[in-house]
Amino acid sequence: MKNVLIAIIAIGVVAMGLVSLLRVQPVGIDTKQSKQTNMARPADNNSVVIQNYAFSPNPLKVKKGTTVTWTNNDIAKHNVVVDDGQPAGGPSGPLFGKNETYQFTFANAGTFNYHCSPHPYMKGVVEVTE
Ligand code: CO
Repeated sequence: MKNVLIAIIAIGVVAMGLVSLLRVQPVGIDTKQSKQTNMARPADNNSVVIQNYAFSPNPLKVKKGTTVTWTNNDIAKHNVVVDDGQPAGGPSGPLFGKNETYQFTFANAGTFNYHCSPHPYMKGVVEVTE
């Protein structure tokens, strides 16, 4: 009888452990996914996120006169500088750090290829239409 009781208690403890594992895991996964989604997806279609040394979305398509906001999620400082040979009226901003933003208003239509000065492999495009 004692052995049966011990067995029942042991099974109960194992079952409770399994239930708590099943409950904890999906919550952890959900939290991670929503955090990643929030960070990867810009707040609106006038916003570019800089993360892991990359601009996103890329290309960004906006109408003439739109103010575009770049937000830096990296620890490294970045900037937004139009490439040589692009239409007039492209950005050429200062370096800005983590959680800081840079804004530029595109007054001219055209396709603006840009890069980050310290990291020339960081390339982006803003397509500005009339
Ligand atoms: Co950079």
